[in-house]
Amino acid sequence: MTELRNVSFQAVELDALAETEGRVAVFLPAEGTMSPGARRVNRLSKGAVARVVESDAWEKLAVGQMISLGYPAGMKASAVDLVKLPRRPQVSEARKAGAALAKAAGKTAVTVLCENTTRVEDLALGLVLRGYAFTQRKSDPSEMPAPATVMCKAPDEAATAFEVARAVAEGVTFTRDLVSEPANVLGTVEFADRLLALKDLGLEVEVLEEDKLAELGMGAMLGVGQGSAMPSKIVIMRWKGGEGDPLALVGKGVVFDTGGISLKPAGGMEDMTMDMGGAGVVAGVMKTLAMRKAKANVVGLVGLVENMPSSTAQRPGDIVTSMKGDTIEVINTDAEGRLVLCDVMWYAQEHEKPKAMIDLATLTGAVIIALGHENAGVLSNNDALANQFLRAADAEGEGAWRLPLGKAYDDQLKSLKADMKNVGGRPAGTITAAQFLQRFVKEDMPWIHLDIAGVAQTTGETALAPKGATGWGVMALDRLVRDQFEAE
Ligand code: BES
Ligand code: MN
Ligand code: ZN
Repeated sequence: MTELRNVSFQAVELDALAETEGRVAVFLPAEGTMSPGARRVNRLSKGAVARVVESDAWEKLAVGQMISLGYPAGMKASAVDLVKLPRRPQVSEARKAGAALAKAAGKTAVTVLCENTTRVEDLALGLVLRGYAFTQRKSDPSEMPAPATVMCKAPDEAATAFEVARAVAEGVTFTRDLVSEPANVLGTVEFADRLLALKDLGLEVEVLEEDKLAELGMGAMLGVGQGSAMPSKIVIMRWKGGEGDPLALVGKGVVFDTGGISLKPAGGMEDMTMDMGGAGVVAGVMKTLAMRKAKANVVGLVGLVENMPSSTAQRPGDIVTSMKGDTIEVINTDAEGRLVLCDVMWYAQEHEKPKAMIDLATLTGAVIIALGHENAGVLSNNDALANQFLRAADAEGEGAWRLPLGKAYDDQLKSLKADMKNVGGRPAGTITAAQFLQRFVKEDMPWIHLDIAGVAQTTGETALAPKGATGWGVMALDRLVRDQFEAE
């Protein structure tokens, strides 16, 4: 597992600055007013800070970005980072500034002069999240980044505030690691083992094995896994920190999606190691909730399968019976995520009595066509819950955009032979996938479907992540739990 960079909080010690090694970061508001720390660095560097803040480059700089001075005269530091940041930054600005520092620092030690700047914990969160690197599968895994030292006015308060942010960062990191792992390392068995290890944090973890899934009548989910040598599993994680019925989070955990007999083309197929992204986010949120001892009841359920073509694989045209009892004609074995989710979602409603249910899945390529890598698709039967989620995602800087549901879309799923088909044709592929899922949502169950195919992993860096797995959704869902499901 990837370890977070160590961050410690200390009182401001200006006299130590000349001798500080690694990088030293200083914050300056747009107008360039210097804090005592900035003045000290300016003096040590013989006026370099003043020259920067008077430059055109400084004027053009966006908030949260920085100009770096390499090997400044009069200091032992290898660089001084001058970050444009108001004394009272917004959450997103503080996180961005932390991310900019992490990106520039790589593994070098950083000393951040926060002084009176507020939202120090968000700055530190940006720093640890952007500093993530998945190096575990290298023969020579690179060393841990050197610690970061934050010098601020109230270090004890900052350290306490960072405890919550650190729980969030641990959850996001857990998700990123799971999403980054290839399927030969993280098969269904290994995935379940990593979730079982969460017991150490006080989560209740239960694994349903294949025979149990068969006994429950989960023909839809089992059909997907039947071509693979790996056993299909459902893992249930319960965090009992509050009162009443839980919020259920359900994740698609296809450890690898070849498409099955409806085989995907070879080009880019390796990306389907991330097809367990929904399950990865559910696991990350559960880890965060446990680490910060959330005062809420939340249950996470993930359906773990591998979608392979083989002599035992399901065929196009097969008709399977779901746990709910509805029959499904499998037109395309590559539309497997919904077949997994429908049984896990039904199980969640029958056995966990949730008051609301949110499922996450890398479900359709169509959502990437619609929303790119900027926003996840949000589909819901409940405006209040959907709006609460959209607000939470916005507050955490995670893109989310609502798409409609409707009967006409649902009609695209009509089958001649069975109760429904598993695909609705090319038009509105993300919506028809959600319509399929909605058939497995009980009448008055508030429900959100999040299609994260475009946001779970990206080819370019994002605000708080290097390229690769993002952990999208852990922060938004943790925020939703904090704002809507937690007792005071
Ligand atoms: N796992 C894929 C969706 C996906 C595509 C995720 C690209 C991440 C990036 C899903 O199982 C799938 O194959 N969906 C099909 C559905 C189609 C057959 C109706 C798709 O989107 O092409
Ligand atoms: Mn597929
Ligand atoms: Zn898939």
